[in-house]
Amino acid sequence: MKQIIENVLLELQNVKATSVQEVEQLKIKYLGKKGLLAGLFEEFKQVPNEEKRKFGALLNDFKTKIEEKIEELKNGLESVHSPDAKNDDLTKPSNLLSLGSLHPLSIVKNEIVEIFSRIGYVVAEGPEIEDDRHVFGALNFPPEHPARDMQDTFFIELREDDNHALLRTHTSSVQVRTMEKQQPPIRIIAPGRVFRNEAISARAHCIFHQVEGLYIDKGVSFADLKQSLLYFAKEMFGEQTKIRLRPSYFPFTEPSAEMDVSCNLCEGKGCNICKGTGWLEIMGCGMIDPNVLDASGIDSNVYSGFAFGMGIERIAMLKYDIKDLRLYFENDLRFLKQFSSAY
Ligand code: PHE
Repeated sequence: MKQIIENVLLELQNVKATSVQEVEQLKIKYLGKKGLLAGLFEEFKQVPNEEKRKFGALLNDFKTKIEEKIEELKNGLESVHSPDAKNDDLTKPSNLLSLGSLHPLSIVKNEIVEIFSRIGYVVAEGPEIEDDRHVFGALNFPPEHPARDMQDTFFIELREDDNHALLRTHTSSVQVRTMEKQQPPIRIIAPGRVFRNEAISARAHCIFHQVEGLYIDKGVSFADLKQSLLYFAKEMFGEQTKIRLRPSYFPFTEPSAEMDVSCNLCEGKGCNICKGTGWLEIMGCGMIDPNVLDASGIDSNVYSGFAFGMGIERIAMLKYDIKDLRLYFENDLRFLKQFSSAY
């Protein structure tokens, strides 16, 4: 009996089937009422009692192996596409393609742009490969300013006139490009990719995204800046949101400030996300320095304005509670599929 089982198992290894009928015949041959297995079970009755255990286990194992083989042959048939098979229903709808969704950074960027477009801002763009003048010089960065250092900036080409080609380190370059082309009133929002020479970690990356805002007209004041940013904060984070402006410094704005929004998670009480302070820093802003207006051909005696800039990654982290910046760039579908494509 043992010999028979071993022979059949060997034989089974090479068995193939090309049609449902063939599989059915094999099933009858091995598992049918008068099949091989039934015969073996018949023989089993004659096995002396003390050996029944051993042979019983052997037979049961044999039975499972045959069943598995039959199943395998059946599955093999199903996966082979046979256009002329009688059972194919050509009117059946095909498999649905799974739809992709927007990247979380695109969702947040679209939302920011949409909020500002409701109060009259239009989208402006500038190149990612820039020159020193548009990223630093015309924005009132003194020649020895540390941001111009190789440590922060990716230089592409060092030029004799010092107007080096480089990857823009902020979207403030789009302010300059817009002012060069256009006289006030100016009201633009400029989303884009920026580059800084940073080691990649959970909290820093050498590529990230910003949204820049610029508003220039006659009589624009700090009160306008504050009110516009309060409107943005409430639209973005909810009606209950409060803002706080802290004095800061940027070469191209005077006075300058950092803006915090009240932490929605703990309602200002203090939690992990806001590190116990109740406030989250989300952007830099300020009144445009008159030197900056004059450097791009806008008369600072007639016009004034404000500018602001924020990191999209940071806003998306706060909105979706994302803890590691690197996730944005890994293209892991398990991460990307969690964000709705409503926008
Ligand atoms: N460009 C600044 C930065 O990258 C942000 C900023 C923009 C500050 C506009 C003030 C006004 O940090």
